[in-house]
Amino acid sequence: MTTLIWSALQGLLFLAFFSSIPVARSGPQEQGPSYLKFVFNATEFPHVDYYDYIIVGGGTAGCPLAATLSSSHRVLLLERGGPIQEFPSLLTQEGFIAALMNVDMYDSPAQAFTSEEGVPNARGRVLGGSSAINAGFYSRADADFFRNSGMAWNLEVVNKSYEWVEKEIVFQPMLKSWQSVVRDALLEAGVSPYNGFTLDHVMGTKIGGSTFNSFGRRHSAADLLNYANPVNLHVAIYASVERILVVGIGLTQFAIGVIYRDSVGQYHHAMVKKNGEVILSAGAIGSPQLLLLSGIGPRPYLSYWGIPVVRHLPYVGQYLYDNPRNGISLVPPIPLEQSLIQVVGITDSGSYIEAASNVIPFASPSPNIFYLSPLAPVYLTVATIMEKITGPLSSGSLRLASTDVRVNPIVRFNYFNNPIDLERCVNGTRKIGDALRSSSMDGLRYLEWFGVKEFRFVGAAMPDDLSNTQEVEEFCRRTVSTIWHYHGGCLMGKVVDRNFRVKGVKSLRVVDGSTFNVSPGTNPQATLMMLGRYMGLNIMEEREKYKH
Ligand SMILES: Cc1cc2nc3c(=O)[nH]c(=O)nc-3n(C[C@H](O)[C@H](O)[C@H](O)COP(=O)(O)OP(=O)(O)OC[C@H]3O[C@@H](n4cnc5c(N)ncnc54)[C@H](O)[C@@H]3O)c2cc1C
Ligand SMILES: *[C@@H]1O[C@H](CO)[C@@H](O)[C@H](O)[C@H]1NC(C)=O
Ligand SMILES: *[C@@H]1O[C@H](CO)[C@@H](O)[C@H](O)[C@H]1NC(C)=O
Ligand SMILES: *[C@@H]1O[C@H](CO)[C@@H](O)[C@H](O)[C@H]1NC(C)=O
Repeated sequence: MTTLIWSALQGLLFLAFFSSIPVARSGPQEQGPSYLKFVFNATEFPHVDYYDYIIVGGGTAGCPLAATLSSSHRVLLLERGGPIQEFPSLLTQEGFIAALMNVDMYDSPAQAFTSEEGVPNARGRVLGGSSAINAGFYSRADADFFRNSGMAWNLEVVNKSYEWVEKEIVFQPMLKSWQSVVRDALLEAGVSPYNGFTLDHVMGTKIGGSTFNSFGRRHSAADLLNYANPVNLHVAIYASVERILVVGIGLTQFAIGVIYRDSVGQYHHAMVKKNGEVILSAGAIGSPQLLLLSGIGPRPYLSYWGIPVVRHLPYVGQYLYDNPRNGISLVPPIPLEQSLIQVVGITDSGSYIEAASNVIPFASPSPNIFYLSPLAPVYLTVATIMEKITGPLSSGSLRLASTDVRVNPIVRFNYFNNPIDLERCVNGTRKIGDALRSSSMDGLRYLEWFGVKEFRFVGAAMPDDLSNTQEVEEFCRRTVSTIWHYHGGCLMGKVVDRNFRVKGVKSLRVVDGSTFNVSPGTNPQATLMMLGRYMGLNIMEEREKYKH
């Protein structure tokens, strides 16, 4: 029983309650966002209709992309899930764990999947995508990301696009006890300098942004739909896209539309108008899956499934990455507030350190609470400190489990296959060790026999000897879990070109985390939302040029 609780904890660390100072304007959201005026159940859409842009996936990148393109074009945004307002647990920080634990196979807003390594994971299935189920930490990408991502970024437009996002949905959090302790401990551990509150990626320790506002209310990419031109944007929810329609042969293949199914099982055709496009923003699992189901992928593999080959593209579903997460959780002797990630330590040795504190119901007797009925739930605060490695370099792949788009593909990430990833984890774990040894952490130790002060870990304890590389490596492998920053599957340079166009198929792009070969910055959502805005501007500019 306790093992079960602790292992659940290892997977679901963050539950929080904190206050924040707005960067964004706060307020009218509480009445219900204005974008709901143009969001409709897919059943209400015509069987055939025509649009300039058809965007598949109303997620972290898809929403800002749709809002931007709607300024001068007729846009259809297709999302398989429902609106966030239908799932109360998503609206508050306290609902974070409840939402992740509610894992109905076809309907819950968090769709669970487990990699072949046995690591439990989750993907968003709701308007707003994974930004509507995530932990809300917001931090821009590192400079290396823009240098090495294979695209010629215009950094001025990148900055303007980040600002466009931040004005609407990013807030400055106020630190309480655990986050403050971690900040101080990181500084003592040499993760310096202290950079205060900043959205920028800078070496040292900082406070980042949050998409939860000062009332603890969630904002997500869906709120960026408030920027849309309501006359031009059509958002269909409970619209599951099953296939991309491609015509032509050889060098002149075009995407001409998509087929989607509504909640009562009816099929709809959405077709692109002249010079229009289909854009996949279905995420690192959804976009490669949909390409494969549409016959765009490795020929022998598609043939094995009996899927007619539309375009042989060998790397669809390959180069799928997930950044391993490792760390420890402890029960403090003094009460701590709940908190989501607010502080991050950006080291120069291959890892980022983050923390959360979480109150969990605990229904089992322990030596310290023997006077309570074994059945009475006892609430314990569990404080977690963890590291995410940069990159990663190890990659895996995605395979279909079914030709039903609702069924999760089978994924494998090959955590730590590359020895550099393992070294990064060893470095990060040692940093956590340094932070735990700092005087800032003293108050979290229990006074044991003979004046010895010790932490009480829940789940895995720190390795005994952090100088023993083999022992720390073993810890990394044994306790690996995910921070949900998986990416890749439609890699830039392999599946899409530097303009995010699918190689060999005209009027078809992929704009989401599936195109990334590394996780941007400490946490990806900032950069995915920026990407949606950036590519929207880019596509419109390109189209203007083409016209003259
Ligand atoms: C539990 C959790 C916590 C996280 N915490 C943080 C954090 O604190 N900070 C941070 O920066 N990042 C965090 N992340 C990561 C971040 O949220 C994701 O990397 C990011 O949201 C992915 O964006 P995306 O646009 O690539 O995909 P998504 O946002 O997942 O969007 C894909 C969308 O496509 C839809 N879709 C898929 N297939 C179809 C189809 N066939 N038809 C129609 N629609 C379809 C999906 O329903 C979804 O809405 C977290 C992620 C999770 C899961
Ligand atoms: C969508 O509309 C159909 C038809 O009106 C209805 O049966 C269905 O329940 C609706 N779906 C949702 C999830 O609202
Ligand atoms: C973009 O913003 C970053 C971080 O705020 C800044 O360092 C950089 O100079 C800016 N670049 C441009 C081109 O404006
Ligand atoms: C691990 O840390 C050491 C010491 O700081 C450093 O020299 C090494 O480059 C780091 N390894 C990686 C993969 O970053």
